[in-house]
Amino acid sequence: MTSETSYDTVFGKMAVDQGLCTNKELRDSVKELQERRKVNPVMLQELLIELGYITATQAERLKRSIRDNKAAVHQIPGYKILGKVGAGAMAFVYKAKQLSLNRTVAIKVLPRRFTENPEYVQRFYKEGQAAGKLNHPNIVQAIDVGEAGGYHYFVMEYVEGKTIADDIAEGAFSEKDAIEIIIQVAHALAHAHSHGLVHRDVKPKNIMVNQQNVVKLADMGLARETTDIEAAQSEAGKAYGTPYYIAPEQIRGKIDIDGRADIYGLGATFYHMVTGQVPFTGDDSSEIMKKHLREKLIPPDHINTALSAGVSEVIEIMMAKRREDRYNSVEELLVDLEALREGHPPLQAHKRFDVSVLERLEEGDTVEAEDMAETEERINRYRMAVMILGTVSAVAVLIIVLMLAL
Ligand SMILES: Nc1ncnc2c1ncn2[C@@H]1O[C@H](COP(=O)(O)OP(=O)(O)O)[C@@H](O)[C@H]1O
Ligand SMILES: [Mg+2]
Repeated sequence: MTSETSYDTVFGKMAVDQGLCTNKELRDSVKELQERRKVNPVMLQELLIELGYITATQAERLKRSIRDNKAAVHQIPGYKILGKVGAGAMAFVYKAKQLSLNRTVAIKVLPRRFTENPEYVQRFYKEGQAAGKLNHPNIVQAIDVGEAGGYHYFVMEYVEGKTIADDIAEGAFSEKDAIEIIIQVAHALAHAHSHGLVHRDVKPKNIMVNQQNVVKLADMGLARETTDIEAAQSEAGKAYGTPYYIAPEQIRGKIDIDGRADIYGLGATFYHMVTGQVPFTGDDSSEIMKKHLREKLIPPDHINTALSAGVSEVIEIMMAKRREDRYNSVEELLVDLEALREGHPPLQAHKRFDVSVLERLEEGDTVEAEDMAETEERINRYRMAVMILGTVSAVAVLIIVLMLAL
């Protein structure tokens, strides 16, 4: 959705975004709505209730939060609100005119509960400032942060276009198209990481493509809640908040989250793009998180057999459970992504694969049979070398002893 501003449109999109009804249910309702309007005007909200897709309580709650938030956004000085563009897991996004420069911007208004957490507010401003220093064609530019009517807001570049999540909903990406998009996001991340900023929430809904086909990574510098585990839990049970792309170390609540968490999120996004499926599913967020921690990933080329072995390998390395087993940096990842684009094998992935198998052996972890065979071969070669060396030295010692005895 780009410039639509009708209440029905906002209500429908939010009901889907918040997991109250499915996309298909919304589409069916809109069709029905258009039919009925010919004779008797009806609100989408009423129709969704009548068709049993949402409850009256859910509708009332959604209506109230739209009203509250709208009242606040109109109090932000210097901006004229043009309409709402969307709502996600934690905020509303509006299209607005920045009056001083007469340009279109997007404003994200955080829910009131964020204001009550001083630690979050502090991080919100700190990360906003860090993002303000970034300047990259593949990053949604941060413009301003502030507070109005008890709500905190974040002003950013407005992107006319759609998110990768919208495209995935229509079907999987071709390998070639996916690689092009992932490369652009990787450039955005390399820039952010070189400035000490980790995104922490790389996912299809945060990747937009504008009308010139330029990829834009959104929400850079938008601090997540205190810990990711808290954020994920507070979203429990809501389809929109399910942690499909979160790195294992974020789930474990590690505080030294680094760029490798973004590599995981990007890998999970890549996976979803080329297979049409998220890496791990579950009935609730805790089940999904457990799988991120422990369940072995089904290789992407087992799901979509048309995929090249190379792309599958790159995704597997990006999504390694231990961050030590992933690419060390986005630069290293880019070497492989560019090789894939040219139809060459991903050499960095090969290298990391070897290293990780050896390291896991040292730790006494079990490795797969296939890996084992390869490793055993290496050990055998090592044994052989030791034996030859041993024999040679024994002979040498014998000669010396003989010479001394003579
Ligand atoms: N800078 C932007 N320009 C235009 N639309 C945006 C922008 N940022 C976000 N949006 C739209 O608003 C929606 C909600 O965004 P957000 O609150 O970040 O939630 P999420 O990332 O969970 O989807 C996005 O899915 C997108 O469609
Ligand atoms: Mg977002």
